[in-house]
Amino acid sequence: MAGLTYILDDLDYYSVAHQTYLGYATKSGPVGNWSEEAFAEVVVGGLSSRIMTKRPLTVLGIGSGAGDIDRKMMSKLLPLFPEVHNTIVEPSESQLSLFKELVKEDKGDLPNVTFTWREDTVDRYVEELESNLGGSGGICERFHLIHLVHSLYYTDDLTRTLRVLHQALEEGGVLFISILPNDSVFNKLDDIQIKHGASRPRLWTDQDVTASLDSLRLPHRLDRGTWCTPSSLCFQENSQDGQHLLDFWTHTKNFRRTASKDLQEEIFACLRSPASSKTETDGEILFFRDWVHITVVKE
Ligand SMILES: C[S@@+](CC[C@H](N)C(=O)[O-])C[C@H]1O[C@@H](n2cnc3c(N)ncnc32)[C@H](O)[C@@H]1O
Repeated sequence: MAGLTYILDDLDYYSVAHQTYLGYATKSGPVGNWSEEAFAEVVVGGLSSRIMTKRPLTVLGIGSGAGDIDRKMMSKLLPLFPEVHNTIVEPSESQLSLFKELVKEDKGDLPNVTFTWREDTVDRYVEELESNLGGSGGICERFHLIHLVHSLYYTDDLTRTLRVLHQALEEGGVLFISILPNDSVFNKLDDIQIKHGASRPRLWTDQDVTASLDSLRLPHRLDRGTWCTPSSLCFQENSQDGQHLLDFWTHTKNFRRTASKDLQEEIFACLRSPASSKTETDGEILFFRDWVHITVVKE
């Protein structure tokens, strides 16, 4: 469908929609409880038993957005690794500005945390990393932790990206990936729109990532969970926040204004179905955001 704009084609607008989404989603609790349960136990616990560095812990965040998740990771890392250097790779200027603001606000709490900022895409960064790792005389920085939280979708060459990022880890380091499963609501909504003629890339899923890791013979651990996020406003026609939420879920800028009536009906039916959402006793509709965490340790 020619009239539908893929939201990732406008990174500034995506940033606004994503911030609105996080504002409502975190009302249902910490971001999926994942920082406490999965990250602290699997990633931080494992790192602290293997990494005995006197240097700052080196962390690479790709597609970190406005830093909401990175900040939570930092709060789990700092008690065990008091000095941390973050390299942040993020193509959206507006997301990076928000992240830098957050760092300014936190400065008093993060005296030993430093940053290198890169306004770039995962593929361009991985290409550079690969040529440095190739040993052409350039010094290649290695990382104790590399994380991609809902951003690995945007690489064109999944296997190469995973191979290069794994090579860029220090011994004992961790590659941590958060990704949507194959049957996620987002993928269902994309499929419906593609059936109606929308043009957009099919997002990599947990199955693609595990198949790539298997082909590289990289053992990995998988954890899966569901985060229920308040989303009733998606159904309110005149709500600005509702528009942002709906656009975030459909991956379509101005979905209500640009989608045909048939397409809208199919999308709303999908969102209201028991496979996609549940209704609380107070009437709030919670959409299911399933997640898969994939952890790879560099042996
Ligand atoms: C769903 S958001 C996740 C943000 C953050 N990690 C979080 O979980 O809150 C996806 C992020 O990927 C970024 N992104 C989009 N295209 C990208 C690309 N080609 N390479 C790296 N990141 C990209 C977006 O700008 C956005 O910040």
